[in-house]
Amino acid sequence: MSGPNTNYDPVEVTPLRADEVAAMRDQAIAAIGAAADLDALKAVRLAHSGDRSPLSLANREIGALPPQARKEAGQRIGQARGAVNEALKRRTTELEAEQEERMLLEETVDVTLPYDRDPQGARHPLTTLQERIGDVFVAMGWEVADGPEVEAEWLNFDALNIGPDHPARTMQDTMFLEPLDAGVVLRTHTSPVQARTMLSRTPPIYVICPGRTYRTDELDATHTPVFHQVEGLAIDRGLSMAHLKGTLDHFAAAMFGEGISTRFRPSYFPFTEPSAEVDLVCFVCRGVEPDVQECRTCRGEGWIEWGGCGVVNPRVLRACGVDSHTYSGFAFGMGVERTLMFRHGVEDMRDMVEGDVRFTLPFGVEL
Ligand code: PHE
Repeated sequence: MSGPNTNYDPVEVTPLRADEVAAMRDQAIAAIGAAADLDALKAVRLAHSGDRSPLSLANREIGALPPQARKEAGQRIGQARGAVNEALKRRTTELEAEQEERMLLEETVDVTLPYDRDPQGARHPLTTLQERIGDVFVAMGWEVADGPEVEAEWLNFDALNIGPDHPARTMQDTMFLEPLDAGVVLRTHTSPVQARTMLSRTPPIYVICPGRTYRTDELDATHTPVFHQVEGLAIDRGLSMAHLKGTLDHFAAAMFGEGISTRFRPSYFPFTEPSAEVDLVCFVCRGVEPDVQECRTCRGEGWIEWGGCGVVNPRVLRACGVDSHTYSGFAFGMGVERTLMFRHGVEDMRDMVEGDVRFTLPFGVEL
């Protein structure tokens, strides 16, 4: 027979003493209170409530106590751990709130800061000028017409009364596309849009056509092989040179300001009769003595050339299916580069094709 089981370790289990447990709890709570942020709190949690924390280790000692002492020690440890967990929870909530507040402060968006310093693309001044010209005419009830840059030789020349022997047809001016006998060119002017419009619609016709044109010129200060023209065509009953003059005066005023008048100089174009060159009164000296004598812009002329114009040749009307007895009309064509040069004092055409933003930026960023 064995005796009663009185087998217990009489050694006092130090970590379970009330003062020890209270010290562990207080240390833990102090460390929790001292944790300045959530990361620090994580470390504190591990040290004071993790598996290897003093309270957890002490908890494991309970089994070594005499049975009567276990309950009390268990309660003590349990309360201490409860207090620690409670403190952890409270501090977590506090620190989370702090962190959120800090984030709100730090991440405040200053709406007064410049929001966009990346350079943005913008349309070229030649493009925006062409649109502005379109607007001037649309405001008078005209329409904007369009045509291809790769054009039938017939429409670029023959329909416009430019016969096979006309000098403009030679390889000197015109870029022909291969095969050469296909009769396809890069349009040398926007005038084929006149022909296309008359062929496809019935009068009255009032169209403006800005667009790109090509000639075999070398690039220099006043020439570029790829350039832009704006063509105007009006076909109606009873239109005369007077209507043309009035229209161009209005166009000039819209481009260069009131008081910039135009002058016609007799000229020749196969597709208009009579024909004229359009001059603008010099926008620098205005042709006024004595300034005009010294003026470098018009070289003392008082006038500068802007484009060509005239009354549409009846042969062109007939070639394009318009009854030349009932209808008459006028046409004009201006260089858009020249217009930009006059309007903005651009002195070198190369600036317009080189794509340097230092040239385009002063025109503003228009999208
Ligand atoms: N197409 C002519 C040129 O390129 C300009 C022009 C257009 C002249 C319309 C008269 C009428 O020079």
